[in-house]
Amino acid sequence: MKLSTEGLFRSDLWQTVLEKYAVATHMTVKVYDAGGQSVLGPLHSTPLFELFKRQAYDPGIFADCVRRCLAQRRDRPAVVASQVRGLAVVGTSLVWEGNIVGVAVGGYVFRDFSQVSEIQTLARKAGIAFDALWSVARRQQPVPQSRLIVHGELLQVLGDALLEREVLIWELKRSNDELTRLSDDVSHDLQATKEELRALAASLMKAHEGADRRIARELHDDFSQRLSFLEMTIEQHQQQRIGKDPPEVDKMFAILTRHISELSADVRDLSHRMHPSILEDLGLAAALRSLAEESELARSAPVHFTGDAIPHSLPLPYANAVYRIAQEALSNAMKHAPEAPVDITLTAEAGVLRLSVRDMGPGFDLAAARGKGGLGIVSMQERAHPLGGDLQIHSHPGQGTTITLQASLPKEPRENESPAHHSR
Ligand SMILES: Nc1ncnc2c1ncn2[C@@H]1O[C@H](COP(=O)(O)OP(=O)(O)OP(=O)(O)O)[C@@H](O)[C@H]1O
Ligand SMILES: [Mg+2]
Repeated sequence: MKLSTEGLFRSDLWQTVLEKYAVATHMTVKVYDAGGQSVLGPLHSTPLFELFKRQAYDPGIFADCVRRCLAQRRDRPAVVASQVRGLAVVGTSLVWEGNIVGVAVGGYVFRDFSQVSEIQTLARKAGIAFDALWSVARRQQPVPQSRLIVHGELLQVLGDALLEREVLIWELKRSNDELTRLSDDVSHDLQATKEELRALAASLMKAHEGADRRIARELHDDFSQRLSFLEMTIEQHQQQRIGKDPPEVDKMFAILTRHISELSADVRDLSHRMHPSILEDLGLAAALRSLAEESELARSAPVHFTGDAIPHSLPLPYANAVYRIAQEALSNAMKHAPEAPVDITLTAEAGVLRLSVRDMGPGFDLAAARGKGGLGIVSMQERAHPLGGDLQIHSHPGQGTTITLQASLPKEPRENESPAHHSR
């Protein structure tokens, strides 16, 4: 990228350094850009410079010096310009990467002791009263040509150093801008990827729930009905045959009936687990209460549920994800802490839903558990993700386990989504 010279000489440092130089050399300094336009100065206006300015007199030697400096090619010695005998300025081109990007000029000086006649000529040309010009000229130290050249060379060294620093700052700024842009791009991409992942997880979950629901209905409506029919038919048959068949046949009928009735209960239970219709019918809090009650029946320690009413209808996938998380946390407690009481709490406050499942069991080391190939914890985390929720697991060996889920409550039930009923 090419260096833009716009604003190049406007930094405070140019002003400070060149002002010091101007004071030290008793000259007024001006800086021009590559187009010959004045971009900085006049710095340190000397009495002579002021006098000419007041009189609007321009001997043209600043402009002449700028022109000659801009015309330089390979060599760039200091350029001394003078029109009126004795009166002079000195300038230098400012170069970056082989290109002239500006010019700095200092003046006016008298090169020799001023003769009265020369001052008279100059005063006439400038339209200035001789006395006024003479009193200024008298106080101005004459500068020999060789010293003037040294002034010019010094100006060149200063200008080049300042330019180098300016370019360095410019390059640093450019790299910084580039880095900022890159990091913006990266974080934008990251955000987009996160959102895509979230959407993907949500749609996978939805598809998964859909399939679960269909299978659950099939199990419930078809298999469960057919098993009930079988159960009833065998019972009828048994009634009709009582006393007619040997006692072994009676016994066999009884065993068959018991097996079929167990099978039928299992299928109903399975269909219920796959798709808890209570969630749709009665809402999240009621479904969790019923889950706690059913689980308590299957173990010796209590399972206690405390639930707040959820303030509005929840979309079914949302309610379902929370239910499934509670279900897995509870099933972990039943499996890994069978003797311990379990507390399930559900609250909804200030737009945030909080679920916690706490057991007073043996606890575990989370890092060590990750490598064991269980799916429960991973699945809870995956289910929390599409809700934009935060799932925390607090457990230490000997200190029980608490699983907490925090997720913002959805603002409105989304379109095409049947809400789960108000929780009770
Ligand atoms: N409530 C708990 N109390 C004690 N240990 C637990 C509890 N919950 C989980 N763990 C430990 O963390 C491990 C991982 O749990 P996770 O639910 O992922 O797998 P799992 O229960 O072993 O198997 P899966 O859930 O796939 O049937 C468990 O094997 C167990 O060691
Ligand atoms: Mg588990």
